Amino acid sequence: MNPQDRLLMRALRRETTERAPVWLMRQAGRYLPEYRAVRKEAGGFMEMIREPRYAAEVTIQPIRRFGMDAAILFSDILVPLEAMGMKLIFDDHGPSLPVPVRDRAAIDALRVVDPAATMPFVGEALKLTRAGLPDETALLGFCGAPFTLASYAIEGGTSKQFSYIRKMMYLDFASFSVLMDKLAEEVIAHMRYQVASGADAVVLFDTWAGSLTRADYQRYAAPWTKRVVDGLAGVAPRVIFAGESGHFLDDLLAMGAEGVALDHRTSLAAAFDRAAGRCALQGNFDPAALFASPQEVHRRTHALLDEVAGRPGHVLNLGHGVFKDTDPESVGAFVRAARERAR
Ligand code: CP3
Repeated sequence: MNPQDRLLMRALRRETTERAPVWLMRQAGRYLPEYRAVRKEAGGFMEMIREPRYAAEVTIQPIRRFGMDAAILFSDILVPLEAMGMKLIFDDHGPSLPVPVRDRAAIDALRVVDPAATMPFVGEALKLTRAGLPDETALLGFCGAPFTLASYAIEGGTSKQFSYIRKMMYLDFASFSVLMDKLAEEVIAHMRYQVASGADAVVLFDTWAGSLTRADYQRYAAPWTKRVVDGLAGVAPRVIFAGESGHFLDDLLAMGAEGVALDHRTSLAAAFDRAAGRCALQGNFDPAALFASPQEVHRRTHALLDEVAGRPGHVLNLGHGVFKDTDPESVGAFVRAARERAR
C-alpha cells in the first residue's frame, strides 16, 4: 500500500474516509500482560527502549491484540535529553534527571546531537516495527515539545508546581531561550530522523504546557513549538498535543500543524467549528472512562462519534494516555466501537 493511502494519513489530510481512524496514546504499556512479560525479560524500561527487538515487539503488541489504525513507536520523550548529556533514570516513581540544568553553564554543556549517531536504536526500532506491522497500519514517531522537555530538564522530573522553570522563565529569560533553542533544534533533528527511518507522521507532546496562562504560553512555549512545526513542513504530517490546553486552543489551531489533539475537557464539536477546516482533530475520549464496563465504553465511544457527526479530519483517540490499571477489555471495546462505525 502507498503509505499516503493509510487511513490515518487520509484523515490527517481531512479527506472523507469510511470511518475515523483510531489509536490510543500510551497504547503500549503496563495494562497489557504481554508488555509486562517483555519488560520482565528485558530487565527494565530503558532496556526495552535501547533494544530494537523489544521496542518493536511492544510497539506492535496492541496492534496485534486490538487492530488500531496506527502504532506509535515505543520510546520516551526524555530519551533525547539523555543523548544531549543528561543523566536519566526510570524507576517505580517515574522518570528522574538527578542533575537538572538550572544555570547557564549547565545549559551550555548540553549538546545538540545527531540522532542517527547517538540514538541509532530509535531508527532501528522503527524499521523493525514497520517490517512487522500490517501494511495498512500507520507508524508514528514522536517527541516532547520544547517547553515540556525544558520542564523535565530544569525540574529534574515530573513536577506539580514547576518552580524552577518558572524562575528561569521570569528571572533569566536569556538562559531559558538558549535552552529552548537547543531543545527545538534537537526535536527537529530527532523527528526528521524518525521520518527517514519509516515514521509516516509525527506527534509532538506538550504535556505540561497547559499549566501556563494563555499569555505565558504565547511568550514562553508557542514560539518554539512553532519553530518545530515549521522545521518539519513538508517532511511528514505533524500532530500537536498540549495537556489541559482548552484556554489556548486557538493558538494550537493556528500553529500550522496538520493535526491538533484535544483532551477530554474540550468539546470536540465546538473545536471542529473553531478549526474551520484548518487542521484535523484528534481525541478526545476520557481515559478514566475506560474504567467503565466494556458496554458503557462502547456506548460512550459511539456518543463521541455522534458528536463529530462524520466531519472529515477526525482521528479517534483518548484525551490523554491509557492508565496502567485499565482493563484491556475496555481498550478492545473502544477500538471495536470505532472500527464497526461507518460515517
Ligand atoms: O504507547 C505509547 O504511547 C508509546 C510510548 C510512549 C511512552 N511515553 C512510553 C512510556 C510515549 C509516546 C511516551 C511519551 C511521554 N513520556 C510523555 C508525553 C505523553 C503524555 O503522557 O503526556 C511524557 C510526559 C513522558 C514522560 C514519562 N514517561 C513519565 C511521566 C513516565 C512515568 C509515568 C508512567 O506512566 O509510568 C514515563 C514512563 C513510561 N513511558 C512508561 C511507558 C510505557 C511506563 C514505564 C514502565 O513500563 O514502567
